[in-house]
Amino acid sequence: MSPSTPWWRDAVIYQVYLRSFADGNGDGVGDIAGLRSRLPYLKSLGIDALWINPWYKSPMADGGYDVADFRAIDPMFGTLADAEQLIAEAHRHGIRVIPDIVPNHTSNQHAWFQAALAAGPGSPERERYIFRPGRGPDGAEPPNNWASCFGGPAWTRLPDGDWYLHLYAPEQPDLDWRHPDVHTEFESILRFWFSRGVDGFRIDVAHGLVKDPELPDLPPESAGKASEEHIQHPHWDRDGVHDIYRTWRTIADEFDGDRAFVAEAWADTPERLAAYVRPGGLHTAFNFDFLMASWDAKDLRTVIDDSLAMLNGVGAPATWVLSNHDVMRHTSRYARRTVARWVPNQRYQPQGPVDLDLGTRRARAAALLMLALPGGAYIYQGDELGLPEVEDLPEDVLQDPIWERSGHTDKGRDGCRVPVPWSAKTAPFGFSPEDATGAPWLPQPPNWGERSVEAQTGDETSMLELYRTALRLRRENPALGDGTMTWLDSPAGVLAFRRGLGFVCVVNLSGEAYPLPEHSSVLLAGGPVEDGVLAPDQAAWLAV
Ligand code: NOJ
Repeated sequence: MSPSTPWWRDAVIYQVYLRSFADGNGDGVGDIAGLRSRLPYLKSLGIDALWINPWYKSPMADGGYDVADFRAIDPMFGTLADAEQLIAEAHRHGIRVIPDIVPNHTSNQHAWFQAALAAGPGSPERERYIFRPGRGPDGAEPPNNWASCFGGPAWTRLPDGDWYLHLYAPEQPDLDWRHPDVHTEFESILRFWFSRGVDGFRIDVAHGLVKDPELPDLPPESAGKASEEHIQHPHWDRDGVHDIYRTWRTIADEFDGDRAFVAEAWADTPERLAAYVRPGGLHTAFNFDFLMASWDAKDLRTVIDDSLAMLNGVGAPATWVLSNHDVMRHTSRYARRTVARWVPNQRYQPQGPVDLDLGTRRARAAALLMLALPGGAYIYQGDELGLPEVEDLPEDVLQDPIWERSGHTDKGRDGCRVPVPWSAKTAPFGFSPEDATGAPWLPQPPNWGERSVEAQTGDETSMLELYRTALRLRRENPALGDGTMTWLDSPAGVLAFRRGLGFVCVVNLSGEAYPLPEHSSVLLAGGPVEDGVLAPDQAAWLAV
């Protein structure tokens, strides 16, 4: 990493899902006070920035992605003053702060939606959202066949007869980005937070803002999914979204420091993804192809090559991500002997026996792979502890709207949101203070303490110390981070590449032991390297 590289080209960004990270006030829900108390931990982990999931005032129908007021912090998390203090303290630790912004929809409790409900059909207040009459003789059929990403139709009917669109839960009405108020309001929200010192934003559903004004039906076979002819899709990844982000870029550039955006944009191809990060557009976008790849050398190599080719083509850095608050934790994903490639627009629900030792070995190798690739990387809280998905949460504790909306066929995303274990003792494992009045909002497994920060600290074989060492080496080695990579010859099933002149990363995804190429020392390895041989599902960083 050269000192002149803008930070966002190769930052390691740690994702904080606030309600599950650390509970400062003892009510069983994580909050800003808890996060502030853990900043020294994050500093010692060696990350560059925090991405914080929505902290705004919200009725929490979708964990805060249903925002009622973008300029207020939800009392569950703290106050605006707490947020300002967090930003200042993080900066003192040399850690940047990126909140989430949610421009595709608001909460149904947002003042605009409440005004639209009160004003009635045909009113100007309804034009900020997507209200339509229904189809059929008495308007009892939804305006089109679009489906909610959480299950069921994307339309809800009001008692006054109008229907409104929600690509997610009914509590999350979609905004109409053809309305000038929507543009000015979000531009003002960006300035509100930029002037409070945030270093950028993660843009939620960045690919969803612009809809085909005709709201045409989707072909029946792909209702609710992205179609093959992606450009024609009536609500995903339409070219018009880029006009919005060009304006947002000029706003970020008005502020001093290097403010940066990262788009959550699910695009069908690396070309479509690269369009978000062209010059004058957003800075970075999550590269979900990496997360969706199977545990297979050929598949991973194709994803890496295609992503780098497309992003380099527009001058943007790559980002690499293995897990987040929406997907099965990768320790569990990799714990199935055969890891299926993720099918876009479908929930990932692998079946079959779970071998967490295998998943953990692969997760260690995947971390070394990710942190050696050119560009930036995301760590989801608990990745560094090797937390698995909690797949056996009792049904009566589930809170993700997917559980209800899927008619209880999909348990949803709560399994990757279980509160973090900090100490080894008993539940709540340091997540809440000793005198807490509330239990953690999701129950932690009885053995959660074995994976706690306390249990892993100082244990050289732990996932936590692997991450700490990897992040330290990455900071110290100018060949890592932004830049180029060169593949080295290796047998099928083995990935080997060079960064700079003196650094090589080798990942063994084959079923056979692999003799490491010539090297002067092993800088770091996922497991013991005996006689210069890398065991299956292991990775190593070499000095050459
Ligand atoms: C993507 C977010 O990551 C997810 O958690 C949320 O449910 C949807 N967008 C809707 O905002």
